Amino acid sequence: MNEYKYILLQIEDNILTITINRPDKLNALNAQLLQEIKAALTTHRDNDAVKGVILTGSGKKAFAAGADISEFASFDGERAKKLSRDGHTVMDYIEAYPKPVIAAVNGFALGGGCELTMCCHLRVASDNARFGQPEVNLGLPPGYGGTQRLVQLIGKTKAMEYLLTADMIKADAALQLGLVNYVVSQDELLDKCKSILQKIATKGPIAVAQTIDCVNAVADESRNGFEVEINAFGTCFDTEDFKEGTGAFLEKRKAEFKGK
Ligand code: COA
Repeated sequence: MNEYKYILLQIEDNILTITINRPDKLNALNAQLLQEIKAALTTHRDNDAVKGVILTGSGKKAFAAGADISEFASFDGERAKKLSRDGHTVMDYIEAYPKPVIAAVNGFALGGGCELTMCCHLRVASDNARFGQPEVNLGLPPGYGGTQRLVQLIGKTKAMEYLLTADMIKADAALQLGLVNYVVSQDELLDKCKSILQKIATKGPIAVAQTIDCVNAVADESRNGFEVEINAFGTCFDTEDFKEGTGAFLEKRKAEFKGK
């Protein structure tokens, strides 16, 4: 099943696990690698056997230590803009993905790696994880949405500090800041993500997709999130899942959603 160079894929128990697989380079994100993640997600977007996604890094040291510095070191401004725009497209695609995507953050998540975790719907970190946007050390601002999503997730006060100082955020601080949902040991990391996804998999898939879209509308100035919610609510009333969910409640049984 693996036609990709930089990622590994596995489907088990209705969960697609995408593993960034460049451990000798601390899973640094080159342009092809990001496109491979997007392609893998696209392949399984309509696959009913996949109800949720885990994105993680191989090895015990890094989720991803940033965009691949060796790839862009010789770029001029125009090429850099394209790299950034293409990266944004991938991050936006993940954020808008209609199935839940959890980042299982197993070590360093720096620069583009941190940005990649932030476009996922949930983040679970191992206790050795370190987040950060160290781009100012390279004479750059973040380029894959970090200045926007870090502010959205932890607020302007601390985001500005971390973006300007390039300080790393340890796992326990990330939990306090609301940057991650849980911190667990590295051994427990994937099981924790799986148990969250298995819980979500018992819910109505259309309602889950619509909820993701409504929440994302908060940060989209081109859309009125309240209107998006009203439409999502109405849309779900016309689904078989809604009839099944309410029927199951009234009949005191477990709902069996079909995503229709
Ligand atoms: N791009 C390209 N290669 C990277 C990389 C990146 N973002 N991060 C790490 N690597 C490579 C290193 O060059 C090294 O390769 P080599 O063995 O061929 O020399 C390998 O991964 C291991 O990294 P190393 O720096 O030796 O590990 P370390 O444990 O001493 O330090 C970090 C770990 C994460 C602190 C350090 O690698 C680092 O600062 N990375 C860059 C982080 C960054 O600035 N990210 C933002 C990029 S926009």
